[in-house]
Amino acid sequence: MRFSLTCKLMFLILTIACKIVAQVKCLEFNFSDFKDGNDADLIRENSYIVLGAIQVTPDVRGGSLTNHAGRALYKEPFRLWSKHKKATFNTTFVLNILNQTDPGGEGLAFVITPETTAPQNSSGMWLGLVNETTNRNNESKIVAVEFDTRMSHPGDLDGNHVGLNLNNIDSVVQESLSSRNITISSGVDLHVHVRYDGENLSVYVSRNSVVFEQRNLVFSRAIDLSAYLPETVYVGFTASTSNFTELNCVRSWSFEGLDIHGDRTMLWLWILIPIVCVVVIGAFLGALYLRSRSKAGETNPDIEAELNHCAVNPQKFKLRELKRATGNFSPENKLGQGGFGMVFKGKWEGRDIAVKRVSEKSRQGKQEFISEITTIGNLNHRNLVKLLGWCYERKEFLLVYEYMPNGSLDKYLSLEDKSRSNLTWETRKNIIRGLSQALEYLHNGCEKRILHRDIKASNVMLDLEYNAKLGDFGLARMIQQSEMTHHSTKEIAGTPGYMAPETFLNGRATVETDVYAFGVLMLELFSGKKPSYVLVKDNQNNYNNSIVNWLWEIYRNGSITDAADPGMGNLFDNEELKSVFILGLACCHPNPNQRPSMKTVLKVLTGETSPPEVPTERPAFIWPAVPPSFSDIDYSLTGSQINSLTELTGR
Ligand SMILES: *[C@@H]1O[C@H](CO)[C@@H](O)[C@H](O)[C@H]1NC(C)=O
Ligand SMILES: *[C@@H]1O[C@H](CO)[C@@H](O)[C@H](O)[C@H]1NC(C)=O
Ligand SMILES: *[C@@H]1O[C@H](CO)[C@@H](O)[C@H](O)[C@H]1NC(C)=O
Ligand SMILES: *[C@@H]1O[C@H](CO)[C@@H](O)[C@H](O)[C@H]1NC(C)=O
Ligand SMILES: *[C@@H]1O[C@H](CO)[C@@H](O)[C@H](O)[C@H]1NC(C)=O
Ligand SMILES: *[C@@H]1O[C@H](CO)[C@@H](O)[C@H](O)[C@H]1NC(C)=O
Ligand SMILES: *[C@@H]1O[C@H](CO)[C@@H](O)[C@H](O)[C@H]1NC(C)=O
Ligand SMILES: *[C@@H]1O[C@H](CO)[C@@H](O)[C@H](O)[C@H]1NC(C)=O
Ligand SMILES: *[C@@H]1O[C@H](CO)[C@@H](O)[C@H](O)[C@H]1NC(C)=O
Repeated sequence: MRFSLTCKLMFLILTIACKIVAQVKCLEFNFSDFKDGNDADLIRENSYIVLGAIQVTPDVRGGSLTNHAGRALYKEPFRLWSKHKKATFNTTFVLNILNQTDPGGEGLAFVITPETTAPQNSSGMWLGLVNETTNRNNESKIVAVEFDTRMSHPGDLDGNHVGLNLNNIDSVVQESLSSRNITISSGVDLHVHVRYDGENLSVYVSRNSVVFEQRNLVFSRAIDLSAYLPETVYVGFTASTSNFTELNCVRSWSFEGLDIHGDRTMLWLWILIPIVCVVVIGAFLGALYLRSRSKAGETNPDIEAELNHCAVNPQKFKLRELKRATGNFSPENKLGQGGFGMVFKGKWEGRDIAVKRVSEKSRQGKQEFISEITTIGNLNHRNLVKLLGWCYERKEFLLVYEYMPNGSLDKYLSLEDKSRSNLTWETRKNIIRGLSQALEYLHNGCEKRILHRDIKASNVMLDLEYNAKLGDFGLARMIQQSEMTHHSTKEIAGTPGYMAPETFLNGRATVETDVYAFGVLMLELFSGKKPSYVLVKDNQNNYNNSIVNWLWEIYRNGSITDAADPGMGNLFDNEELKSVFILGLACCHPNPNQRPSMKTVLKVLTGETSPPEVPTERPAFIWPAVPPSFSDIDYSLTGSQINSLTELTGR
């Protein structure tokens, strides 16, 4: 035990030392491609990570491509200058811009700016940089290297040039790439290198990866960035479309910047090291004390200490604050009853919040609480309900979430047919797409694989625009992806109607049981039928879930679109609806090995591939499940299957 603590201590000192050293090095990152998990590394506005790239302005996932402006910036700011010094940086990225009209429009830009949101009406010729009002205004605070693909205003040299823009859509320098035999919007990979040495800003462009070479220099221009930008800025990309459209992808991006903290940090290092040592020793003694105390009590000081000291984000609230916010948990503010506590609406610093009060009696609740904070606290995805903070005081456990004005999805689905028309076909598609992205993120996008374990309509929250956000991670358990044997967890959990048949035999939550519940939710959403039927075991060892059976029956009769929720009116695309139902059935395949992974689900929903083949006759549930033949392995799924095999054979 002493030994493990010493290890921890060493580790702590090392981490802190690394952090300090990292500060000397300053802003440095390298994305060789983009995954959903990189969401948290970017500040995105109207741009997404799809197909391994940032799609600045919306993309292949449906919806109109016209008249958008989008932005994607690296999450951490960069200190560009101070009174005495200027930063230097260089960045390399690969653009791939493919015209969807002839010509494509409008272009993409590498930007340096303190502003994380695009000005209004900055689509079209404005490239998401400025608008009619802010153009030529020093308050715009924007420096950009534009890749302009359409001649949209008189200042443009042509429809294929690179320019340097200073608070102005008219460039101070522009160079056509046509003479270099490069067409920006032709869907080829463009390697770009931008460097600033404190005096000159230079741009290099090439079709191959060896971009930083004199012959690839497009222009170099002396510029004092501090004349246009404040001391602290973000770096990233903006783009726009008009009636002319294109797919604006950034496929990879590395940045190296030596900012002006440099020498001062070295000084701080010498001041900080003694302080750090004292703190570390203090923490060490504190941990010892807590540990000795915990032997008597039932609390787990490790986790609580960890919470207290690392949970800066989400933030720690005071019980007093939350009481005031919710009118002392007044029944009037009650929003609902969750799995392990009540939820209240509150107002805090002018914004609406939802406060979950974890019920005191459930011991289980405490573990859930702790797992919920450590799990969600580090997650950041637009389709997950954001955890703003937590509170643990006087044996009260509270979780503070962003407030979802439109409540939970089950509320809408339980309405009369007519009132269900709030959920239009497009809204429903958007909901299911959002949820599949959230789940893909949980399963494959974060450091540790997370199973949701209780996917159902009442755990899906809707924001003002009816975007879906998955909530209630009370049952989620982290699974270390490196620790293969912990692939599945053993307590039975879930909600009847959403539980996969194998759950009743082995009681395990797996990636595949999440996919099953998601499938049921999908069928529910588009058919308007409740899955809350009892699961019955018939004498053929068949575990039957009636919404799945019911739809499979209709599918067998070749009329699956008859199952459409009357609430949608007739305002849907027959083929698309069919594909959605088939995908739902595929997710509810009785054999877990045959279910698609969330990655595949997402691909089907974005139209990249067609839904998996589903037999018209519902296959019988066979246990243990038969692995699929090797020819059509979906690796993202079988990875986990292999894990459970090692679990069987490894002991
Ligand atoms: C970024 O990472 C890629 C792949 O890991 C590597 O080839 C490239 O050299 C790196 N770039 C920089 C600037 O470190
Ligand atoms: C990029 O900038 C960093 C920091 O200023 C520097 O260390 C590095 O050598 C530069 N890389 C290139 C290719 O010039
Ligand atoms: C993209 O541009 C090329 C060349 O200008 C043109 O031939 C092609 O039709 C355009 N693509 C679309 C989808 O309009
Ligand atoms: C330009 O953007 C600013 C800031 O978003 C906004 O206040 C202004 O109204 C916009 N101008 C136009 C013409 O839309
Ligand atoms: C500017 O944006 C606002 C709100 O987004 C919109 O109502 C208005 O019509 C736009 N103005 C122009 C000139 O496009
Ligand atoms: C321009 O590129 C095309 C295709 O990449 C190639 O066939 C052609 O020879 C190139 N022309 C010049 C002048 O490099
Ligand atoms: C910037 O460019 C000018 C003109 O090409 C050159 O004289 C100067 O040395 C450059 N500055 C640096 C720091 O390279
Ligand atoms: C904007 O900034 C530039 C560079 O500092 C300066 O030359 C110009 O006069 C400024 N324009 C206005 C309107 O303040
Ligand atoms: C874009 O297309 C719409 C509909 O076809 C048309 O009304 C509008 O005038 C076009 N805008 C421009 C700037 O061409």
